[in-house]
Amino acid sequence: MKSAITHHKTMYIFFGAPGAGKGTLAQLCVEKLGWKQLSTGELCRYHSLHHTEIGKQIDFLIKSGKLVSDSLITSMVEDWLLRNSKGNQEIILDGFPRTAEQAQMLDELLKKDAFSSFKLVIVSMAVPNAVVLQRLTHRWVCSNPACQAIYSLPNEGQTIPSNALRCPHCSKELIRRQDDQNMAVIEERLKTFNHHAQALMNYYKSTGCTFYELDATKPVIEVFEQLMAKLKER
Ligand code: AP5
Repeated sequence: MKSAITHHKTMYIFFGAPGAGKGTLAQLCVEKLGWKQLSTGELCRYHSLHHTEIGKQIDFLIKSGKLVSDSLITSMVEDWLLRNSKGNQEIILDGFPRTAEQAQMLDELLKKDAFSSFKLVIVSMAVPNAVVLQRLTHRWVCSNPACQAIYSLPNEGQTIPSNALRCPHCSKELIRRQDDQNMAVIEERLKTFNHHAQALMNYYKSTGCTFYELDATKPVIEVFEQLMAKLKER
């Protein structure tokens, strides 16, 4: 006989502009809380770097700051979830959904038996455009695909030869993301974000989802503490 008890796991949607700090906060949650993170941006960059069939389709889009199609990105998310969501860990979706259409597709996915134990929580990270521009132009990331740690190097990055910059975790070279190196691409990403953000939030408000709003202009550890405080309130 089937047990009547349903065990709910939470799927946290980290939502915010490029550079809001979604990946940074997700890394802290992975380290400190043992959650699992899917960054759809990292997944896209992996395919692009390894010239997979998907990579060939999306390479131009991610380099120019445009969105990958809703159906392709959702099928990539489903594939990742099938392989990674079986344990008891909470899941972070970092950068997905970003359109109301993707949110609807995710809702359809969550109706499937494999994912029916998940409950959604939206973690919205607010940060003004000026802060985003400053952060993206100072971001360095670890080139090791298994590490991908994120750093901010306001002074050092400008003065030290780039091949001398090493990741403190794994010693691999630190690099700048291609889509951070061109102001027109950064502006395109921001424009795309602003174009879809309201409709996406309206969709989630209409579904009655739980919302946590964080002030992402604060130092990283304080943003993490804001999230912990929201979890305690639940
Ligand atoms: P993606 O990689 O997700 O890029 P993004 O959305 O532009 O977001 P970022 O990774 O730039 O920002 P973040 O919020 O994670 O900031 P971070 O923590 O690194 O997507 C790339 C591309 O993939 C898209 O353009 C698109 O083509 C495609 N794609 C991905 N998902 C898709 C989807 N769902 N649909 C369609 N296409 C999709 O922090 C930034 C910097 O700030 C770092 O240097 C960090 O050290 C610093 N920092 C972070 N927090 C703080 C803080 N609190 N105080 C001070 N500094 C901070």
